[in-house]
Amino acid sequence: MDGNGRWAKKRGLPRAVGHQRGVEAVRRLVRALEPTELECLTLYAFSSENWKRSEDEVDDLMNLMRRFIKSDLPEFIANNVKLKIIGDWQSLAPDIVAMLEDALAQTANGKQTLAVALNYGGQHEIARAAAKAAAVGEVTIEAIAAHLDTADLAPLDLLIRTSGEIRLSNFLLWQAAYAEMLFVDTLWPDFEPAHLTTALDDFARRERRYGGR
Ligand code: FPP
Repeated sequence: MDGNGRWAKKRGLPRAVGHQRGVEAVRRLVRALEPTELECLTLYAFSSENWKRSEDEVDDLMNLMRRFIKSDLPEFIANNVKLKIIGDWQSLAPDIVAMLEDALAQTANGKQTLAVALNYGGQHEIARAAAKAAAVGEVTIEAIAAHLDTADLAPLDLLIRTSGEIRLSNFLLWQAAYAEMLFVDTLWPDFEPAHLTTALDDFARRERRYGGR
């Protein structure tokens, strides 16, 4: 979900406003999830490297997360959205951890998954999974995959990055091995459900070979 800061800067607004508008884009997308029939939508909300940002910005992002869970949880439940969190989220502030645990429990029977990457880094995730696989003496692709945070999610098919940057920034590195990639110039706060529909149409036209011919 890249481009919140630039969206705000273009308008002479504080970065925090860009993040607030970023949350609104998330909300629009979650509301439009059902007809897409997507099994899972994963959003990169806070990376393990985002702690390097100013204390104010980190606080803003954590507060947005608190408010988002509080305000939108009833809607998730009503719309059969199952929340999933990936990353080292259990080391976030205790009140956020408690709030997330409650939200996970309350949405456990949902149909479509909204996975939120929080304090997430792909390299950390792979290292954690490899250590768990090694602990039981089985360092194979299957064993590592079984210990990833995403082990219970559908395979990653399409990875979209907004704001014109063409890099993965430590997002779902393992899972992206054969994923289709889409890099769009749209800044995240401007990302509409129609952009997702267009992305899915683009994905449907791709020919996937997984290394075969
Ligand atoms: C990247 O834009 C965005 C982030 C680091 C935060 C994304 C978070 C949200 C949209 C809000 C919280 C999410 C939820 C699910 C409630 P940037 O700030 O790096 O933008 P820039 O590259 O233009 O400066």
